[in-house]
Amino acid sequence: MSELNTNANATVKAAWARGALARVLWDEAQIQQRVRELGAEIARDYQALLGEALLEEPPLIVGIFRGAIVFLADLMRAMPIPVEVDYVQLYSYGKGAEAGEIQLLRDLGTPAQGRHVLLVEDIVDTGQTLEFLREHLEARGAASLRVCALIDKRPRRRVPVQLDYVGFVLEEDAFVVGYGLDYAERYRNLPFVAALKPEAVRRA
Ligand code: PRP
Repeated sequence: MSELNTNANATVKAAWARGALARVLWDEAQIQQRVRELGAEIARDYQALLGEALLEEPPLIVGIFRGAIVFLADLMRAMPIPVEVDYVQLYSYGKGAEAGEIQLLRDLGTPAQGRHVLLVEDIVDTGQTLEFLREHLEARGAASLRVCALIDKRPRRRVPVQLDYVGFVLEEDAFVVGYGLDYAERYRNLPFVAALKPEAVRRA
């Protein structure tokens, strides 16, 4: 019996996807618990950094779409401080794309000049997306830049990146889906994070 099948909750919620999933890495309860912890920690840090100024100019939370949609929605509600929210959307020319092959599809609608920006990412893999956005936001004069990633996937890191807040560390080179993460635009709506079977990756 696979690990997915031993998780009754996940099995019920993902009956349609079961054939492609190898195992659940983090279930819904684990994710929700970790998101609450991250939200509280981030809120404390911004309170310490900004003090009274928090009310006048709250941190600008920037989701990196589409993958961060679900995490962003939960994380911002776990932060008991005022925030503003925006998003960017990028396009990478295939996985493993060289630096420079990332294109900005949608820029911030909010000027970043002088703002304390928290980038919210679903997964950091090679690190190229974050490197691109760090340069982009620094060029626009952000006052500070912090990064929160749900998953720090380390085996394929090519660019060293500083992650200020991390939900979970992934040490294996598995293809993971769910809670916003996709494979060929599917599986984003799974409420947990699972590893795809290698044969499902090849097939799709
Ligand atoms: C994924 C993920 C990160 C990026 C990380 O996005 O959401 O943004 O890859 O990879 P990197 O560290 O190697 O740059 P993807 O390009 O799959 O688009 P999506 O957010 O629309 O799913």
